[in-house]
Amino acid sequence: MILPLLLLMGIALIPASAQTVPTPNPQLASKEVNARVEALLKKMTLEEKVGQLVQYSAGYATGPGASNLHYDDLVSKGQLGSMLNVVGAEATNHYQHIAVEKSRLHIPIIFGQDVIHGHRTTFPVPLALAASWDPAAIELVARTGAVEARADGLAWVFSPMVDIARDPRWGRIVESAGEDPYLGSVLARAWVKGYQQGDLSKPDSVAVSVKHFAAYGAAIAGRDYNAVDMGEITLRQVYLEPYRAAVEAGAATVMSSFNSINGIPATANRFLLTQILRKEWGFDGFVVSDWGAVAELKNHSIGDGPTVARKALEAGVDMDMEGNLYSTTIAEQVQAGKIPESVVDEAARRVLRVKFALGLFDHPYTEAGPAYDATPERRAVARKVAEETLVLLKNDAVEGVGTLLPISQSIAKAKKVALIGPMADNQQEMLGAWAVTGDPKYAVTLKAALTERLGDRLLYAEGCELLSGEDANVLKRVSFGGPVIADQHLPIPDDAKSIAEAVETAKKADVAIVALGEPTNWLEGEAGSRAHLGFTGAQQKLLEAVVATGKPVILVVLAGRPLELKWAAEHVPAILEAWSPGVEAGHAVANVLFGDVNPSGKLPSSFPRAVGQEPLYYAQLPTGRPAHGDLSHMPSNAAEKFVSRYVDEENSALFPFGWGLSYTRFSYAAPTISRAEVPVQEILASRKAPVTTVGVDVRNTGSVAGTEVVQLYIRNTAASVEQPVRELKGFARVTLAPGESKHVEFSLGFDELHFYNAEMQRTVEPTTYKIWVGGSSLASAETELKIIE
Ligand code: NOJ
Repeated sequence: MILPLLLLMGIALIPASAQTVPTPNPQLASKEVNARVEALLKKMTLEEKVGQLVQYSAGYATGPGASNLHYDDLVSKGQLGSMLNVVGAEATNHYQHIAVEKSRLHIPIIFGQDVIHGHRTTFPVPLALAASWDPAAIELVARTGAVEARADGLAWVFSPMVDIARDPRWGRIVESAGEDPYLGSVLARAWVKGYQQGDLSKPDSVAVSVKHFAAYGAAIAGRDYNAVDMGEITLRQVYLEPYRAAVEAGAATVMSSFNSINGIPATANRFLLTQILRKEWGFDGFVVSDWGAVAELKNHSIGDGPTVARKALEAGVDMDMEGNLYSTTIAEQVQAGKIPESVVDEAARRVLRVKFALGLFDHPYTEAGPAYDATPERRAVARKVAEETLVLLKNDAVEGVGTLLPISQSIAKAKKVALIGPMADNQQEMLGAWAVTGDPKYAVTLKAALTERLGDRLLYAEGCELLSGEDANVLKRVSFGGPVIADQHLPIPDDAKSIAEAVETAKKADVAIVALGEPTNWLEGEAGSRAHLGFTGAQQKLLEAVVATGKPVILVVLAGRPLELKWAAEHVPAILEAWSPGVEAGHAVANVLFGDVNPSGKLPSSFPRAVGQEPLYYAQLPTGRPAHGDLSHMPSNAAEKFVSRYVDEENSALFPFGWGLSYTRFSYAAPTISRAEVPVQEILASRKAPVTTVGVDVRNTGSVAGTEVVQLYIRNTAASVEQPVRELKGFARVTLAPGESKHVEFSLGFDELHFYNAEMQRTVEPTTYKIWVGGSSLASAETELKIIE
């Protein structure tokens, strides 16, 4: 009753920061869990409490300089609360038996692992999954990963990675959901739901670790680990949104990032880790550092070992992953009165809370169970999901032939098909970056899948290797996780010869499929930043040579980042973006090429014309001198001077955010809006309730069934703080039979319409929103919403 009264009196609402702190994960806040934690804490020595804050990697390493200590010993003394990279029932049970049976207080270990796009069954890389725009698919991937991880003794996954990535020079874009905070937030929630099922105590739930907090994806110049510098509005409105969504969905843990932000390293950043994460968002779980990030604070020049350990702990990093500093410096500093013991208590409390909520005290061990490797059921799921991630970038008609895709029945039944390229028959490459526990031997390549369909009518030539010349030697030596080929010179590939062979192969066929990309383990993922975004090695030359034969060419791109495809877009009639599709790669791609599956993927990331456009994203802020209108997707006009544009390239993306073609066509009627005027106070008052609905009829006007991702964009035209020229605020996957039409509705309320004002409050003001609905960020069916006083 009080609220409407206040509103009538025109009294402003309480800012977000001053509102009651939420409790996003009721299990972590539960009385039962916390009573058990407090009872245990009372019995613990300082050393045992610190032990809960320590994590080491045993087995293989996913970062530099693993500690290599006597883990059995540490565990038995209660000095090691968590481990990573220990995988399998046998290996995890080994340490767990020591922890539970030999340590004084019998506290179980929490085993964490990089389960990024599946565990044993490798799904498409996260950027590809984002191209499905299908939260249900992502939930399924997370669910499958959780079941497989739990069977391997792992109750904690270092996923989802929700960093906004707007610069494909940054190799970790592959682990992200791309450039958009709305899409990223929807998918972040799906990941958390799939892994945790809203109940950490279920035997097949795993705790997530939302990473990398925060803004790691905005590394200056796309160079991994580099500093981040950005205004607080952008930080909150763009970069923090997906983390907030994940925390609101109940995420049990968060991983701090390597980068500094506005001069303060994230791993010692009290503003991020305490003010925002805990005080504003109510996070009750624990924060783990990234690998060695606490020790690396020394390189950030903010103190010596003990100092940086204290700064990290006091800022809110509860667990030190492979930093070796909490274990060696914290207890001493507490004893010397430099760190209050209550700080250690609080960190240990947070870790124990998650262990109790997961049921680890009651069920610490893992039964050796069935091998999960690539069962037919799981492969079927992986294939279906992969099919949804493929994006048809281009499918122009070729004179006298028509569109090349889907491949015609006459070719499928009786003609010769050339398959060319270093991505055509490489099992490892199909899994993509960060497929830590995926086994390449199960991966189906394009060659294998096309052979199943075409038999000896498939002609194959590798054409060239992924890397050529000296690059091959150098890069293979720094291979991530792979063998180090020290000082050994590998034979340098003879590109000219292999390209000539490929040209001959193409000439013998009726159509050529060229499968190109970049080596995922050397050039993508962590420490995989690139200054060039073209195909690696001699692949571009190979493509040009095959196109020069005059044979119709279909290009399949297999890469975990947007590559620069300008030449291809100008010269190749059909281009399919296939990312790194996972264990069922070949089948999924072949199903789309031959039309058994109609592609429905949409880009989660803008594809540049030139690397110099990066960071390139559709939701740009306006400028005072817009080029040719102020929408970033408008081509710049070469005759215009004194406007914000490149003089030697268009401003627009080669393929924009949200883009993706189908084998059918969709038409959009003019959108309608249920209420075109809404009083501002009504929106502020009903924070969770929608205030208006945008509806649109979408029709399949082609001759085959298809799925369209209907997208809704808004622009706030008169805010107190300038707003992006377009922002995604809704989407829906709609499947339509030929000729069928469906009515799609999008609700708009505070969640979709708010922005951060100069006081860092989430708010809505009187304004007019332009609204567009369509099949990409170029959507043109338009309506309007007025927010009145
Ligand atoms: C470093 C990476 O940045 C992070 O994503 C990963 O989870 C940890 N290492 C553990 O492997």
